[in-house]
Amino acid sequence: MKTLPVDIDRDRLPQHVAFIMDGNGRWAKQRGLPRIAGHRQGARILKDLVRCCKDWGIPTLTVYAFSTENWQRPLKEVEFLMRLFERLLRKELAEMHQEGVRLQFLGDLSELPSTLQTEMTQACDITAQNQGVTFNVAVNYGSRLEITRACQALAQQVKQGILNPEDIDESTISQQLYAPNGPDPDLLIRTSGEQRLSNYLLWQLAYTELYFTDRFWPDFDRSAFHEALLAYQQRDRRFGKVATALSA
Ligand code: FPP
Repeated sequence: MKTLPVDIDRDRLPQHVAFIMDGNGRWAKQRGLPRIAGHRQGARILKDLVRCCKDWGIPTLTVYAFSTENWQRPLKEVEFLMRLFERLLRKELAEMHQEGVRLQFLGDLSELPSTLQTEMTQACDITAQNQGVTFNVAVNYGSRLEITRACQALAQQVKQGILNPEDIDESTISQQLYAPNGPDPDLLIRTSGEQRLSNYLLWQLAYTELYFTDRFWPDFDRSAFHEALLAYQQRDRRFGKVATALSA
C-alpha cells in the first residue's frame, strides 16, 4: 500500500495525526520476549508509519516516545530506550533527510543524556528546511508541564512590562508551547486498548477526534492505519456547531 488506499478521501485527510504508541511491553510478553524486543519492533513500525504519512499525503505526525512519568520505569529499560533513540537517530537520519522528513522534538530535553541532546539538535538543524513530512517526537514530555512553562513565560513578560494580561489570548498561549507553529492534531490514535490521554497534548487535542484500537503498537501497520483513517472519515467534525450533511 504505497499509494493512498482508494476508499480514503484525499480531500478529507487529517493534516496532523498524533499517536500514543502503547503496548510494546505486552506485545513482547505475549511472545515470551523481553520488553525491549517490543520497543525494537515498535521502532520498526514507527519508521514505516513516518514513510506512510509521506506516501499518503499526511503532512504532520507527532508520537509520544517518552513521558515525564516514564523515568519511573526500571533503570535498565530507561537506559535501553535512551540508547535506542540515539542509535535510531544516528542510523536513520541520513535516510529521513533524503526523504524530506523534518524532525522536531517536544519536551524538556535538558534532562536527557547530553549525547542524545546533541544528536537531537543536529537532527533538527539538518532537517529544518525539509517539506516532505513533519515528524514530531515527544521525549521527556508532559502536557501539564508544557502548559505550566507557557504560563511562567507569559508571567515573566507581564512582570517585565512587555505584555498586558488583557492581551493574553489562546494564540499567545499556543506560541509558548514546545512546537508553536504546526496545526493541532485532527486525529489521535492510541493503541493497546487503553482509553486515556496520559498527559499528552492536552491543549492541542481540544477538538481532535480520538481513535482507540486494541492492537498493540508493534502490530500497528499500514493496514491498521488505513482502518483508523476510514473511521476518522466517518466522523462528523462539528467544532461545536450544528450537524453537517454527513450526520443529518
Ligand atoms: C509504550 O509501550 C512505549 C514506550 C514508552 C516507548 C515507545 C518507543 C518506541 C516505539 C521506540 C521508538 C521510538 C522512537 C521515537 C525512535 P509500553 O512499554 O508502555 O507497553 P506496555 O503498556 O505493554 O507495557
